[in-house]
Amino acid sequence: MKLAIGNDHVAVEMKNEIMNYLVSKGYEVINVGTDSTERFNYPVSGYKVARLVADGKVDAGVLICGTGVGISLSANKVNGIRACVCSDPYTARLSKQHNNTNIIAFGSRVIGIETAKMIVDEWLAAEYEGGRHQTRIDMIDEIGRTQHLKAAEE
Ligand code: RB5
Repeated sequence: MKLAIGNDHVAVEMKNEIMNYLVSKGYEVINVGTDSTERFNYPVSGYKVARLVADGKVDAGVLICGTGVGISLSANKVNGIRACVCSDPYTARLSKQHNNTNIIAFGSRVIGIETAKMIVDEWLAAEYEGGRHQTRIDMIDEIGRTQHLKAAEE
C-alpha cells in the first residue's frame, strides 16, 4: 500500500516519526511535506497530498499541522477528497468505516506520538462498509458538484 504524507513547519518531527513508523510496518510512503522548521503554508502540503490521492497515485494520505484543521480544510477542497481531522482512534476508525475517508489528519500540538500511531493503525486497518453510508457520501459529492442538495429542498 502506497501512502503520501504532508505537514507544515510545526509538525516536522511528528511527520518523521509517523513516516518511519509506517515504513517499519511495510507501507511505501511518499513525503511531500516540508522538512524545515521555517514557516511554511500548510495548504501547499494539503493540496499536494490531496492531488496524489485524488489522481490515484497513492492509496491514501496522512496530513499533520499544528491542529490538523487548516491542512485538512485545504485537502477537502480537492474533488474526491474526504479528509478528516481527528484526535482519537475511534473517530479515525469510524471515519473510514462510515465516511470512507481517504486522508487522515491530526495536530502535532494536540496529540502525542503514541496517540498518532494508534490513529493511523486504526484508520489503515478499518474498511469502508458501503451500503447506507454510500447514499450520504453521494449527497456530500452532490453538494460539492452543484453547491446544492436536492434532499434539503424537500
Ligand atoms: C501554524 O502556526 C498553524 O496555524 C498550523 O500548523 C495549523 O494549526 C493550522 O490549522
